[in-house]
Amino acid sequence: PVLVVDFGAQYAQLIARRVREAGLYSELIPSTAQAVDFAAREPAAIVLSGGPSSVYADGAPRLDPAVFGLGVPMFGICYGFQVMATHLGGEVAHTDRREYGSTPMTVTRPGRLLAEQPAEQTVWMSHGDSVARAPEGFEVLASTPDTPVAAFECDAQRMAGVQWHPEVLHSAHGQRVLENFLYEVAGLEADWTSESVIDEQVARIRARVGDAQVICGLSGGVDSAVAAALVQKAVGDQLTCVFVDHGLLRKDERRQVEEDYVAATGVRLVTVDARETFLGALAGVSDPEAKRKIIGREFIRSFEGAAADLVAESREGAGEPIEFLVQGTLYPDVVESGGGTGTANIKSHHNVGGLPEDLQFQLVEPLRTLFKDEVRQIGRELGLPEVIVARQPFPGPGLAIRIVGAVSEERLAVLREADAIARAELTAAGLDDEIWQCPVVLLADVRSVGVQGDGRTYGHPIVLRPVSSEDAMTADWTRVPFDVLARISNRITNEVDEVNRVVLDVTSKPPGTIEWE
Ligand code: XMP
Repeated sequence: PVLVVDFGAQYAQLIARRVREAGLYSELIPSTAQAVDFAAREPAAIVLSGGPSSVYADGAPRLDPAVFGLGVPMFGICYGFQVMATHLGGEVAHTDRREYGSTPMTVTRPGRLLAEQPAEQTVWMSHGDSVARAPEGFEVLASTPDTPVAAFECDAQRMAGVQWHPEVLHSAHGQRVLENFLYEVAGLEADWTSESVIDEQVARIRARVGDAQVICGLSGGVDSAVAAALVQKAVGDQLTCVFVDHGLLRKDERRQVEEDYVAATGVRLVTVDARETFLGALAGVSDPEAKRKIIGREFIRSFEGAAADLVAESREGAGEPIEFLVQGTLYPDVVESGGGTGTANIKSHHNVGGLPEDLQFQLVEPLRTLFKDEVRQIGRELGLPEVIVARQPFPGPGLAIRIVGAVSEERLAVLREADAIARAELTAAGLDDEIWQCPVVLLADVRSVGVQGDGRTYGHPIVLRPVSSEDAMTADWTRVPFDVLARISNRITNEVDEVNRVVLDVTSKPPGTIEWE
């Protein structure tokens, strides 16, 4: 892999994703790892990420100096650029000038790293210290008004670095810089494609599962759908999928799983119709956390019940027992629960809502090394329906946490209609890429006066909450064009009984969360 060294800022995962987009497999490694740990992972190249520190600060993350002696091509970004300069005999200076944000940069000598790029470009900077002198044998390639050494490279050692952040979209030619490092400086060849991932995962799943039976919980979301499709491709009929319909899904989602997904994959599917159970348990409950607890508990019961039935069936039958459970754990979950060292497995259990110990399945997690965009790409490659592959994030507790107030069948029906209209119009307007997700919320306990036709109405408001985000940790409200908002509003107030008002949420996160509950 290309190893991306994590110096503790949020940039490392983004860099790892960009390396994948460039066509090479990448993994994160903590900056505290020793040179032997690096060597054990047989890196094709090492990328030092940005970090929050000054190289002079007490406790600033360092790198085992022996890493520089491994003979592996290296690329330093921002803090990583300065770490590189310091270790290789250059000089980093404390300056009073802080560069932050979009900065004009001049290519003074393109070298390999900045080959075939505009001489003047805008890059994204965020640093206080600067490299004052490049190490021996390194050529300086670029400068900014405040930073004379903004990029350097050394052909002989296959090393290069930049002071700016090529991984962020604000750096106009950033991806090209990264690719130039990987292909021109390091001399690597692209080999990471969805086909190669599928082939490798299918082979691994077969080797791991053998003749045993496997079950997988489908949520209707992209992760479980792609994980199951990979397992299906690997072991076919040994897989059974369980889909719990808790009655809190959006319009058409059950059909998309039961018909479209099954048609595309040929997977054996058991649907548990638990709608009445969930609605009964939720009756009269308005508190958001109470709703979540009830839904979590009922979900485990339903899934566990179905799994236990399947286990019993397989014991009675002549076939092999169910030994494996598929989970759609992604690489960011793995990194967050154990620093990407591949050991910790804490968070993955939460993905199925904490299955009880006595079911004792071994986990199959075919998406453990993948980022979300890659999962979508693989889903497309496997021929999954676009409605599932392109689906925006949707919370496990579903529409229950988008009804402010108690959940009932009638209220769900109102929200389902309004949500379907909003989604259809946003999609028709071509806004799906710009919008991370758009919760549609029913303020069930609020009434407002309206006039429709000739009469006075006393109905409920619907809130539109379109947000743009990279990872749901922070978000901004999406500037949806007024004419699209007007169409959504007209259609919802005309077509959905009970709703006489549509309002737009214009709050970023923080301070507002994405969901209303
Ligand atoms: P918030 O509302 O915290 O949401 O800004 C961040 C992301 O998480 C999703 N979300 C949930 N997902 N169970 C889930 O599986 C939940 O209880 C839950 N609450 C929020 C939300 O849709 C957004 O993508």
